[in-house]
Amino acid sequence: MKFDHLRGTPGSRTRLAAQVWEGAKVGAEAARVPELSEVEVPAAMKEEIERQMAKYPDPRSAVLPALRLAQAEYGWLSPDAMLQVAAVMRLTPAYLESIATFYDMFELAPAGRHTIYVCTNISCSLRGASDLLASMSEATGAPVGGSSPDGEFHLRSFECLGACDIAPMASIDGYYRGPLTADDTKRIVDEVRAGRSGSELLPDRSYGGDYARRLGERPRDGEGAR
Ligand code: FES
Repeated sequence: MKFDHLRGTPGSRTRLAAQVWEGAKVGAEAARVPELSEVEVPAAMKEEIERQMAKYPDPRSAVLPALRLAQAEYGWLSPDAMLQVAAVMRLTPAYLESIATFYDMFELAPAGRHTIYVCTNISCSLRGASDLLASMSEATGAPVGGSSPDGEFHLRSFECLGACDIAPMASIDGYYRGPLTADDTKRIVDEVRAGRSGSELLPDRSYGGDYARRLGERPRDGEGAR
């Protein structure tokens, strides 16, 4: 049956994965595995991707951390960044793209250096998330869903980030802060511009202590993640 993988038959997930895998290898240039000698990969990024690959019986299991590493390195998953990951992992760029396009938090277009996600789900909305978002947009100069003209900030509204008890809240470079008021936004933006890391922002508004988004097992600003 041609589309049985869509019907949840036993083992269908494996077959679908195999079809995607085979499909990604067929045909044009994007399906060719690039040679490491053809691309320049930052040594630290290569080393970390290889460390991630070594953790799994199937190295492809490390695709997500590898893509996160590339995004942390370049700010977004440019075709060149994809090529680098593909060369290290011995995969096709097309295969990586099929995964990157599925996940919302991979940026497939140039994005500001610092990410600010303002939660606009129900708990945060009831406690003023829309004012917070508008204020954050004004303070950063970034439109919602876009980046500031100076390339410093990328602002998005987000569904529940799982920290409703500090609503309204935002994630700044992976560090959760809340409850926030519109007045906090300028301070946050000024401090980030001054070079403070997300972990140093409004320490009295942190969430369960500081913790960092794990970008390839390391936080964006190089501090220790828990
Ligand atoms: S609704 Fe905002 S963190 Fe859950």
